[in-house]
Amino acid sequence: MTEKKGRVFSGARPTGRQHLGNYLGAIKNYVALQGDYRTVYCVVDIHALTTVETTRELALNTQEMTLDWLAAGIDPEKSIIFVQSHVPEVMELHTILSMVTPLGKLTALPTFKEKVRDNPDNVNYGLVGYPVLMSADILLYKADLVPVGTDQIPHLEFAREVVRSFNHRYETNILVEPQAKVTQIPKVVGIDGERKMSKSLDNHIELAATPEETEKRIMSMVTDPQRMRRDDPGNPDVCNVFSLHKIFSSEEEVEEINRECRKAGIGCVDCKRKLAANLNQHLVPFRAKREELSRDPNIVRDVLEDGAKRAKVIASETMSEVREAIGFYGARE
Ligand code: TRP
Repeated sequence: MTEKKGRVFSGARPTGRQHLGNYLGAIKNYVALQGDYRTVYCVVDIHALTTVETTRELALNTQEMTLDWLAAGIDPEKSIIFVQSHVPEVMELHTILSMVTPLGKLTALPTFKEKVRDNPDNVNYGLVGYPVLMSADILLYKADLVPVGTDQIPHLEFAREVVRSFNHRYETNILVEPQAKVTQIPKVVGIDGERKMSKSLDNHIELAATPEETEKRIMSMVTDPQRMRRDDPGNPDVCNVFSLHKIFSSEEEVEEINRECRKAGIGCVDCKRKLAANLNQHLVPFRAKREELSRDPNIVRDVLEDGAKRAKVIASETMSEVREAIGFYGARE
């Protein structure tokens, strides 16, 4: 085997069936990094507790998300795939890191302010510490590279600061400063044509939907708002249907739509039908794989069990070093 370049770690909250935004923004990248790096992908179910009202669907959401990951090509032979709560060392590291974290840094983060604004009645201690737990994820596995969306860049900078504080306080160099690897795709807008695609806004298109459901979702997409009638010329530059064509349709077709839309040669309905056909075509292998995987109810469980075992080896090694660096009684031989 050729030498791999370093370790990649990324995590995602268990949101159940994944949508196009998850795929283009994260999963596609996870898959692509598998060849060159030692990749570790984690379903961060503990993080999910900071905002959920109920855990009724937590386990199911973990199962469904993992199925989508596997069907999309995250390969347990190449990557460690595991559930955060199965390796509880992360909570130990979280507590230790919290002692080198100034509270003001946490409350100043834009993600925290946003959560407080959206949900002022649920500002719990764990929510404030969210980035500390995220740092613990990354640092426990000594990740060099962390693929994330732009909204997570402040968290990565925070993690780097935590590393410096920890290493400085305990006069060590065991923790590694991670680099963000920002996903190079524009934000995926939902079917409302306006906001980021998300399940909670119900403006998403699921990867595992049937072709009919997919077509229905696409037919309800908001297009260029200036184009009121079929014979009005449209502007593909502001149309979300066109953005998706650029990803899922052939170059010739994109060119043709670009040209025809501007002179009302093609209407929105036809344009969406083409998109639905191309997207459904694109998802054929994914859906077949998912179907195959979901026939065996043990696959996900086995993959995650094995992933946790492999993750634990790395985690316990790091924790021994951490305890030793701190100088807990009995930690140094
Ligand atoms: N905070 C990330 C998000 O909301 C999820 C996450 C948790 C994560 N731990 C991580 C991402 C570690 C990368 C690395 O999307």
